[in-house]
Amino acid sequence: MTDKRAINITILASGSGSNAERLITVYRDDPTINVGAVITNNKEAGVIERCERLGVPCRILTASEVISAEFMNPILREYSTDVVVLAGYLKLIPNHTIRRWSGRIINIHPSLLPKYGGRGMYGMRVHRAVIENGETVSGITVHHVNEIYDDGQIIEQQSLTIEPGWTADDLASAINKLEHEHFPRIIKELCQKLRLQD
Ligand code: GRF
Repeated sequence: MTDKRAINITILASGSGSNAERLITVYRDDPTINVGAVITNNKEAGVIERCERLGVPCRILTASEVISAEFMNPILREYSTDVVVLAGYLKLIPNHTIRRWSGRIINIHPSLLPKYGGRGMYGMRVHRAVIENGETVSGITVHHVNEIYDDGQIIEQQSLTIEPGWTADDLASAINKLEHEHFPRIIKELCQKLRLQD
């Protein structure tokens, strides 16, 4: 194991990027994982400022570039990407990119899929729907990515209890904590399996 090279991760993010920052900082001293770059489709995304602060390259692509495998694949190859991690990424991944990185594209979703997933179910929309429906439990799902939103094979779920009186904001903040606690470990476990196979 020790003589094996690090697994290279490229993160795709459209928003604040707190999960991207968490992965970057947790893996910073880990010789087995390297976060080489972040790609965003949103020039206003908070993740851009985080990358500047953390010294990680951040590529800003246009709406038409991100949906084109002809554009996306060479950039992923440029960073020798082994694993693509979607952390709050709101665009579909081109089919050819999904096939090329088959089994190596991972998403995190802020609900217990299949509940509260699918097209249009992202960010606060998820948490508002969960609270409005009177759910007593929610959680996070880390899953493989296929051609359909939030549909790929589930890798792991973690749940939490929704306390009486919680607002959607309360739930969002509890989910964010749960994500930061588990996402780096789940990705690392996957990377370790890949290193053993390579
Ligand atoms: C997270 O809740 C994640 O589950 C979802 O988008 C959110 C991203 O948050 N896919 P952040 O940008 O990492 O803070």
